[in-house]
Amino acid sequence: MILIVGGAGYIGSHINKMLSENGYETVVFDNLSYGHEDFVKWGHFERGDLGNIESIRKVFKKYTIDSVMHFAAFAYVGESVVDPQKYYRNNVLNTLNLLQVMLEFDVKRLVFSSTCATYGNPVEIPITENHPQNPINPYGRGKLMVETVLDDYSRAYDLNYVSLRYFNAAGADPEAEVGENHNPETHLIPLILDAAIGKRENIQIFGTDYETEDGTCIRDYIHVTDLADAHLKALKYLEDGGKSDYFNLGNGSGFSVQEVIERARQITGKTIVAVESDRRPGDPPVLVGSSDKIRSVLNWKPKYNDISVIIETAWNWHIKNNDVE
Ligand code: UFG
Repeated sequence: MILIVGGAGYIGSHINKMLSENGYETVVFDNLSYGHEDFVKWGHFERGDLGNIESIRKVFKKYTIDSVMHFAAFAYVGESVVDPQKYYRNNVLNTLNLLQVMLEFDVKRLVFSSTCATYGNPVEIPITENHPQNPINPYGRGKLMVETVLDDYSRAYDLNYVSLRYFNAAGADPEAEVGENHNPETHLIPLILDAAIGKRENIQIFGTDYETEDGTCIRDYIHVTDLADAHLKALKYLEDGGKSDYFNLGNGSGFSVQEVIERARQITGKTIVAVESDRRPGDPPVLVGSSDKIRSVLNWKPKYNDISVIIETAWNWHIKNNDVE
C-alpha cells in the first residue's frame, strides 16, 4: 500500500491516478484544507492532519504501508513571506511528524515534493541539481530544510528518499478526471483560462520589462501527468533498492508569460484580454531546469512536453470543471 499524503490536491490526485492505473493500492491522507474529497477517485481515503501525530499513527496501524509520497504542503510563495509561521509549521514541522511515524513503523521509502524555489535566483540557466541552493523566500527555505533533514535521516536511519524539485506543474489529466482547482488561484495558466471563460475580466502580466526577449518572465512548464510518471519511476527506483537522491523535474525549455497567453488564445479560440502590470515581487526573470539527470537515472521521458498540449488539457478540464459549454 502506498500512502499519498496530500493526495486530494492538484498534484497528489494525478499521482493517485497514475499509481492506481499501474497496479498499486493507495491510501490518501489529507486534511482537505486545500484538497478536494471528490479528487480522491482511486484507492482509500483517510481524513487527517499531519499536525496530529496520533492521526498519522492510526493510518499506519490500519494499513500496511510500504512507501510514502508527500504532497501536503502550502505552496503560495507570497503568503509564505507574510506568514512564515504557517509555512514552517506545516511544511517543515508536520513533515517531521510524518517522518517520525514512518520510522516508528519501519517504513523506509519516501518520494518528496520539493521545488525549484530551493535554488533561489538562478546564477546559471538551465538550472542543474548542482546549482547552489539559496532560496529567497520562506516557502523555498522550508522545502530546503526538509531536504536537509531527509539527507541526515537517510544516513542515520537508512531511510531512502527521492526528492523531486518541480518547476512549473501545469496542465490536467488528459481524461479530465482531475485537474487544477486552487482557491485562491494564483497560477498563470488557470488564471488565463478564467479570463477565457469570462470568470475574470483579464489576465495581468506581472512585469514586461524583464531582460527576456519579449520582456515577460520565462518558466519551465511541466505537464502534471509527466510529473506523475516521474513519481512512479522514483517509487520503482526505491523499490529496486535505489539510494537516496534528488532530481529536477522540468522540461528543459522555457516559455514567456506572453507566449503562454498567445498560445492559450489559439487553443481556446477566445478573446483573452491581457493587461500589463507591475512586476510581482520575488519573481526571477527566467526559471528553466535541466532534466538530464532524471532522464538518465530514472529513464524518465516527458510525453506531454508541448506547451500547447499542456494548455489544451488544462482547458478541457477547466471547461468541464466550470460547467462551460
Ligand atoms: N504571472 C502573471 N500573471 C498572473 C500570474 C502569474 O504574469 O496573474 C506570471 C508570474 O509572474 C510568473 C509566471 O506567470 O512569471 C508563472 O507564475 P505562477 O504563479 O504560475 O508560477 P511561479 O513560477 O510563480 O511558481 C511556481 C510554483 C511555486 C514555486 C515557484 C518556484 O507554483 O510553487 O514556481 O519559483 F515555488
